Amino acid sequence: MAGAIAYISRDTDGVHWKKVLEAGLGPVDFRPLDSLGNKEDIEVALAWKPPAGLIASFPNVKLIVSLGMGVDHLLADDRLPAGVPIVRIMDDGLVGQMSEYAIYWALRHHRDIDKYAASQRARQWKPEDFVDTIDRRIGVMGLGSIGQDTAGKFAALGFPTAGWSRTAKNLPGIETFHGADGLQRFLARTDILIDVLPLTRDTHGLLDAKAFAALPRGAYFINMARGGHVVDDALLAALESGQISGAALDVFNVEPLPQDHPYWTHPKVHVTPHIAGATNPRTASPGVIENIKRMRAGQALIHSVDPKTGY
Ligand code: OXD
Repeated sequence: MAGAIAYISRDTDGVHWKKVLEAGLGPVDFRPLDSLGNKEDIEVALAWKPPAGLIASFPNVKLIVSLGMGVDHLLADDRLPAGVPIVRIMDDGLVGQMSEYAIYWALRHHRDIDKYAASQRARQWKPEDFVDTIDRRIGVMGLGSIGQDTAGKFAALGFPTAGWSRTAKNLPGIETFHGADGLQRFLARTDILIDVLPLTRDTHGLLDAKAFAALPRGAYFINMARGGHVVDDALLAALESGQISGAALDVFNVEPLPQDHPYWTHPKVHVTPHIAGATNPRTASPGVIENIKRMRAGQALIHSVDPKTGY
């Protein structure tokens, strides 16, 4: 049998991954985190938030696979073995879930569902003024595969939709902005801000007091990317002043969100536990299987990660 595949995640036991990998590769020597065995056997590391230094302790590892589409959880390990290629999953199932998450919260805000829920509790029949769809401007930060899918679906629903990315992108039906210069203009035209950026040195703390102030008053914020983009005190102050009317947050600077964090009980904040897009072994495994085959055949890999850019 070929080298072993280590499954490094504290979130799930990997049973589904073992099944889908065996369907594509034949019998695999699959080693979950609690039974890694002889580390010299390990050829592939499938990892989600690996303990720092663990992958470096596999002397024969030839491929590192991020089990998330984001790779910051992996690159945070400053002892990753140099020269071992890193690839990430490309998961259409996860991409679709992320768009659903954004559409759910955006429509809930757009259609005043929380106000109607409050009216119902008060037994009040109280139609609210509505905002026309063509007047509710959606802004998606990050135009990789998740951002493009999300932006395209909002545009298809009839919302004026824009996207912001580090480098220039041209997408049909989406107004695009890029770079530091484009950021303020992008924020100034965005009523519902949706964050799907990767977490890198450049995006850490990007959503600060200045960024929130650049949005139109009463803008809504959906974060399904990384908590590290957000300066929490700035968001809390913007919620307090009414500059931001509400937020749906799936990701946080510290996860799990600490028990005493103000977001838990904030009346304008919805908290979910990093579930906007769950990696789906069924849809994520074909690319992983392809990369394991390519690595074994000495061929070029797909979905490669550049540790320098951080995605
Ligand atoms: C990911 C995530 O990176 O779920 O895929 O956060």
